[in-house]
Amino acid sequence: MIGDPPTTPAATRVSDPILSLRGVTKVYEGGLTALSAIDLDIERGEIFALLGPNGAGKTTLIGVVCGIVRPTSGQILADGYDVARDYRKARQAIGLVPQELSTDAFESVWSSVKFSRGLFGKRPDPAYLEGVLKALSLWDKRDDKIMTLSGGMKRRVLIAKALSHEPHILFLDEPTAGVDVELRRDMWAMVHELRKRGVTIILTTHYIEEAEQMADRIGVIDKGKIVLVERKNTLMRKLGQKQLILHLSKPSKVLPKGLEDHTLELSQDGYRLVYTFDKHQEDTGIANLLARLSQLGIEYTDLQTQQSSLEDIFVSLVRAPT
Ligand SMILES: Nc1ncnc2c1ncn2[C@@H]1O[C@H](COP(=O)(O)OP(=O)(O)OP(=O)(O)O)[C@@H](O)[C@H]1O
Ligand SMILES: [Mg+2]
Repeated sequence: MIGDPPTTPAATRVSDPILSLRGVTKVYEGGLTALSAIDLDIERGEIFALLGPNGAGKTTLIGVVCGIVRPTSGQILADGYDVARDYRKARQAIGLVPQELSTDAFESVWSSVKFSRGLFGKRPDPAYLEGVLKALSLWDKRDDKIMTLSGGMKRRVLIAKALSHEPHILFLDEPTAGVDVELRRDMWAMVHELRKRGVTIILTTHYIEEAEQMADRIGVIDKGKIVLVERKNTLMRKLGQKQLILHLSKPSKVLPKGLEDHTLELSQDGYRLVYTFDKHQEDTGIANLLARLSQLGIEYTDLQTQQSSLEDIFVSLVRAPT
């Protein structure tokens, strides 16, 4: 059988990736394909936001990279190590804050975090761990049993544990789902601080606003496939496009003659003329267009503008029939 031609967008490959996935597929027992031939590179030092609806495969993708889920096929390199062949070395480079809250309930914060560091074969470094706990406002709680902490505090402990062995790559799986404003703000500050220190961060989120604020690049996953990877700035530039919609007094079957040189489209019912323009351009061409319409005697009853948002793009991507 001849395979599909490669359709991977160029933006999924970067020159010096810290993490790279090639043809990674995961079929769960029972036959569900959670990941389908994923090709993805993560750039050293970037913040990458992976967006996708429930069940898209985000946690599975993190799972295969962290060695929690065994991929059905494909290859993964993390910080230069093959996750399948050199698991310990690859895993050492990675910190993971899981989506589900599950911590050693009876342990104290301090011993749990210290233990996590030891697990990765790192020499004890109380000063480093103290810094981590302080940054997460956990220092005062260091002797408390984890089970006595609030949900938000438990999440902070998970982050401290993930950072305990000084990973180069940090995965945050839905870090701000169900957390309060303060923790969310702390989390964002922490992510930026870690990035300054050279840590690569991959976070999954349902909050488009979060991806917009934090990420250098945004990836969208749907039904186990990466459907878009783009620099945030490029994406935002594309979002600079606006539409002017003119509601015509009389419907038109075809684009009225004399308007062919404008970037215009006619709606199916013939009642709306849609003009797309770049809002960053000094001359949007609107004045020109309206003058032309009046010359041609084309009347309209209403005039409105609209702008597509990241949310619109996201919704249209994940709803598009496959
Ligand atoms: N252990 C498992 N066995 C079988 N199917 C699984 C298993 N884990 C996940 N799945 C299925 O794989 C698909 C992807 O799940 P995954 O948890 O990766 O999605 P997600 O994008 O993280 O979703 P969410 O936003 O809800 O966290 C889903 O259909 C899910 O039901
Ligand atoms: Mg998930």
